[in-house]
Amino acid sequence: MPTSETPEEPQAPHPLDESAIERCVTEAIAAFDAAEDLEQLKAARIAHTGDKAPVVLANRRIKELAKDEKKEAGKLLGAARGRIQKALAARTEVLEAEHAARVLVEETVDVTAAPRRRRPGARHPLNVLQERVADVFTAMGWEIAEGPELESEWFNFDALNFDPDHPAREMQDTFFVEPAESHLVLRTHTSPVQVRALLERDLPVYVLCPGKTFRTDELDATHTPVFHQFEGLAVDKGLTMADLKGTLEHFARAMFGPEAAIRLRPSYFPFTEPSAEMDVWDPHAKGGPQWIEWGGCGMVNPNVLAAAGVKDPEYTGFAFGMGVERTLMFRNGVSDMRDMIEGDIRFSQRFGQEV
Ligand code: PHE
Repeated sequence: MPTSETPEEPQAPHPLDESAIERCVTEAIAAFDAAEDLEQLKAARIAHTGDKAPVVLANRRIKELAKDEKKEAGKLLGAARGRIQKALAARTEVLEAEHAARVLVEETVDVTAAPRRRRPGARHPLNVLQERVADVFTAMGWEIAEGPELESEWFNFDALNFDPDHPAREMQDTFFVEPAESHLVLRTHTSPVQVRALLERDLPVYVLCPGKTFRTDELDATHTPVFHQFEGLAVDKGLTMADLKGTLEHFARAMFGPEAAIRLRPSYFPFTEPSAEMDVWDPHAKGGPQWIEWGGCGMVNPNVLAAAGVKDPEYTGFAFGMGVERTLMFRNGVSDMRDMIEGDIRFSQRFGQEV
């Protein structure tokens, strides 16, 4: 039988070479003692007790010996391997204890340490106000409706009875979107949702649409090119201006207290007829109780109802729309609109809505 089954075998000491085997043991013990951590000990363990360790290889050579020699060699190597295992176990115990002690120190949690304080966020007052408004209307059974901010010119103007050449189209400074053939605009008001809501829903319709709107205004204390409105629309059998006024009065009281009132002044919007400007009597306005221009309203123009497919003449509707920023200004005494868009958390925190 060939003596070298594996290339390592020639390096194996003879199983009866006592001094060579003693050397293996001393070297193994020295290697274990030199290991400074469990990682190094693992390498030493593999080198001195693994498949290719000298004593293991020597053990494998026992089979080459004569019968009576086998016994002696077995004893010799057994004792050598036993001493190596014992040294390994002892060193393992020491290093594991050291490791555990180090983890205890390194990973201690100092329960007395001061926590690192992160400034809490705050909900933006515009969002909070929009939700309050939505709550007033959902409590009356109205639904919340949504529409796209990038709107087709047809919904933003045509369906709302803006004649193509009518100067009313210029009433609102529009961001037109290229290419012109796309006929898309950034919606200048939330009124296009009136038509969308009517097309999407069965009658009667009672919807409130809070959302973002856009006009080509320069940013200053009272203008911002991106702002918010809420639009209300009710279409049902036999609705009149009285229903509009009653709804607005309830809304005003929910927002400004029981003494609040509504006043309507004749006005013009292509999509309502008759149309009105609405003022609210704000008993708690920061500048003292006063009438404040709040928004526009009116009875939905029959042309709009027709564009939205409402043909039954028994159905009439009213609509209203106002600016959220403007409402926040006089309701909460914000004098500069820029504060609302700068995103400085100190502004929002003033409203006490921390999260
Ligand atoms: N959409 C109008 C505006 O932005 C407001 C309005 C809404 C007027 C609904 C009448 C009815 O100025």
